[in-house]
Amino acid sequence: MSQIEYEQLVREILSCTKCPLHRYRRRPVPGEGRLDAEIMIVGEAPGEKEDEQGRPFVGPAGQLLTKILNSLGISREQVYITNVVKCRPPENRDPTPEEIKSCLPYLIRQILIIRPKVIICLGRHSAREILKLCGLRESEVSQISKIRGKIFNVKFMGEHDVTVVPTYHPAAALYNPRLRTYIAEDIKKAIEIAQGKHRVERSSILDYLG
Ligand code: URA
Repeated sequence: MSQIEYEQLVREILSCTKCPLHRYRRRPVPGEGRLDAEIMIVGEAPGEKEDEQGRPFVGPAGQLLTKILNSLGISREQVYITNVVKCRPPENRDPTPEEIKSCLPYLIRQILIIRPKVIICLGRHSAREILKLCGLRESEVSQISKIRGKIFNVKFMGEHDVTVVPTYHPAAALYNPRLRTYIAEDIKKAIEIAQGKHRVERSSILDYLG
């Protein structure tokens, strides 16, 4: 069932013309990985290499992400990787709120098909959009430096219990190598939660407001 739903979703993404980004893209980038993955990784939007290949996180930031995952003992094939926005914004600019709004239903459907235990948000756009869908207010989630590495044990769209772990975007770590340690630490925590090795003590959104 979810395989059929997923294939339908991918077809829709590949032919999507809902926002102006379809005019500039070479290939939409739906995402890739296991449909039964316990860990889902969500970035911002495809870059140049991703747009060329139709695959997420295959450029320089993606290579760093793959290296970090491998150093923690997991491969890309064990997780599901996607982005908030499925088509590359020209010149790698930030996606506009309208572009995010028209693309977000695809991410929602992906998350509800895969139903991961843990979502790792790479960067502030991903963290903001996903945590908003879990009931947090924008003002609580807008600064990635304040929320990275935190464990948000929440309900996605009011129906799927999930742990969200935001971290820095690996593209930022290409310019600021000190961030690599934080990203690796945060992803390690997320992996341990997925493996049931890390106790999640916070149980509601209210825990994060103080
Ligand atoms: N940056 C992202 O956010 N996603 C990709 O797929 C590649 C770079």
